[in-house]
Amino acid sequence: MAEPVPLVQQLVNVPIFKDLPARSLESIARSMRERTYEKGAVIVRQGDPGVGFFLITDGVVEVSHDGHHVRDLGAGEFFGEMALMEERPRSATVTAKERTRCLQLVRWDFRAVLKENPDLAVRMLEVVVQRLREHPQSHELD
Ligand code: CMP
Repeated sequence: MAEPVPLVQQLVNVPIFKDLPARSLESIARSMRERTYEKGAVIVRQGDPGVGFFLITDGVVEVSHDGHHVRDLGAGEFFGEMALMEERPRSATVTAKERTRCLQLVRWDFRAVLKENPDLAVRMLEVVVQRLREHPQSHELD
């Protein structure tokens, strides 16, 4: 069986984490927990309170809003950041389309990581703004 890949190594391969100093990656990795979801598992449900931020390391998830497909996300992408940033319920449902592995950060660790790593926070903000622009109807912005 293949050796498990250390969490730090998994983070180095993720675009928004690239260029962070090794010290920061090691500290972030210590707060992360590996989670595996089987095909069809609902990872985040629209309307629920948000506890976790998820970074996909393997697999594909579907984001849906009011039962309508919004888009798929795959390895290196993340979800669950919105409810943690604005302290509101989950804006969409996220379902595993196949067996999917994620690294999870809980709310308090997620916020601490962003405060300690402004470059990461800015990169994440860029992705979030893009998401809101592409699908304003899912976020009451239209
Ligand atoms: P959150 O609202 O915490 O929970 C649902 C998640 O789905 C949300 O965070 C985003 O991570 C993700 N999401 C919502 N809308 C979009 C979108 N238009 N594109 C990509 N991901 C989205």
